[in-house]
Amino acid sequence: MDPRRILLAVSGGIAAYKTPELVRALRARGHDVRCMLTAAAERFVTPLVLQTLTGRSVRRELFDAGEEGEIDHIGLADWADLVVIAPATANLMAKMVQGLADDLVSTVLLATRAPLLVAPAMNVNMWGHPATRENVERLRHRGVTFVGPEAGELACGWEGLGRMSDPGRIADAADALLVAPSLRGERVVVTAGGTAEPIDAVRSVTNRSSGKMGFAIAAEAARRGADVVLIAGVTSLPTPHGVRRVDARSALEMREAVLAELDAATIVVKAAAVADFRPAAPSARKIKKEDLGDGASITLELVPNPDILAEISARKGSRTIVGFAAESHDVVEAARRKLARKGCDLIVANDISRADAGFEVDENAVRFVWPSGEVEELPLLPKSGVAAQLFDRIEKLRGGR
Ligand SMILES: Cc1cc2nc3c(=O)[nH]c(=O)nc-3n(C[C@H](O)[C@H](O)[C@H](O)COP(=O)(O)O)c2cc1C
Repeated sequence: MDPRRILLAVSGGIAAYKTPELVRALRARGHDVRCMLTAAAERFVTPLVLQTLTGRSVRRELFDAGEEGEIDHIGLADWADLVVIAPATANLMAKMVQGLADDLVSTVLLATRAPLLVAPAMNVNMWGHPATRENVERLRHRGVTFVGPEAGELACGWEGLGRMSDPGRIADAADALLVAPSLRGERVVVTAGGTAEPIDAVRSVTNRSSGKMGFAIAAEAARRGADVVLIAGVTSLPTPHGVRRVDARSALEMREAVLAELDAATIVVKAAAVADFRPAAPSARKIKKEDLGDGASITLELVPNPDILAEISARKGSRTIVGFAAESHDVVEAARRKLARKGCDLIVANDISRADAGFEVDENAVRFVWPSGEVEELPLLPKSGVAAQLFDRIEKLRGGR
C-alpha cells in the first residue's frame, strides 16, 4: 500500500493514554500520521508525546494563528485519507451527530470528506445510555465505521462494554478501510520462513529466515481481498488475520504443500528460504555422543533438495509466479541468472549483506528484477511496505493479461 495519510482525532477519555501506542502501530504500517486533540484529551495525553511519535506538530486550537498558519483546519480535513477517532468520547459522538463545530476537532470532522473510523471508549452505563445508542446508530447509518468497544474491566472500576479496542486492532481496522479489495477473486499462495532439514530426531540444518517478509506478503494479499494460503516453514510468527496457514518444516514437506495448493493458485509468491541441501540419511533416533566414542567427529552428507520454484514455473500456465533471491554479493547478476533459469515472472532480490535489511529485521531493501532485464531499486521500507509495492506490480501484470 502506498503510505496513506491518517488524521488521528483524540478526545477526552481515559483511554487517550493508549494513543501513543496507536500512533506507533499506524506508523509501523508505513502511514503518515497527524494528531489533533480536544481540550479534554490534553488532560490525558500530552501533545509533546504525540508530536515526537508522529514527527509532526499536533493541532489543538481552532483560533491559534500560529497553528492555523501551519496547516489550517480545512487543510487538515482535506489532507486525510482516513480520520481515526480514538478514543471517541460519548460527548464527541453526540457532537458529530448534531454537526456541531465548536472546537478544532469537531470542526475538522464536519469538514472532512475522508472515511471515519471511530473507536469509542467510556463507562459501561454511558455506552448503554439510550442517547449514546441512538447516536451510534445514526453515525453508522451515515457510513461511519466502528471498532469496539470491547468488554472487560474499565478504568472507572465498572465491568462491561466500554474499553477501547487495542491499538493493533484499531490499526487493522484502519488498514481494512484504506485498501481497495483489488485482489478479490485471486488465490494467492505464499511461502515463508526457513526450512529445517533433519539430521536426527532432535537436530536439524536450518537458516536465519524469520518469515517476516512472507508473512507481510500474506497479510497484504489478504488485506487486498485475496483468498490466501500461507505455507509457513520454521517461524514463531502469528498467522495474519484472514489467512489460511499450512505448516511445512522441511523442503520436502514444503514442496508437497506447494504442489497440493498449486492447481487452485493464480498467484504464487515464494518468499521462503528453502534449504538447497538436506542431510542424505537423517537418523530416526537421536545421535548420541557415547555411541560414537570419545572425540569422534561426524561427517554429514548433504544431497540437493528439489527446486520448487523451477518445478512450479514449469507448470506456470496463466499464473503469476514471483521468486525471492537472498544474495550476499553480485545481487542483481545472481537474481538475473535465477530468473532466466527458473522462468518466473519476477525475482525480488534481497541484499543480505546489509545489517539494516533482510533477515530477522522489520525492514527490507529490495530490487525487483524483471525478465526484460530492467531492475527497480526500492528504498529501505517496512516489510509491509515492500509487500504493498510487490502487489502493486503483480496487479499490473495480471491486469495486462
Ligand atoms: C478522569 C476522567 C475520565 C473520563 N473518561 C471518559 C471516557 O472514557 N469516555 C468518555 O466518553 N468521557 C470520559 N470523561 C468525560 C469527558 O472527559 C467529558 O465528557 C469531556 O467533556 C469530553 O470532551 P471531548 O469530547 O471534547 O474530548 C472522563 C472524564 C474524566 C474526568
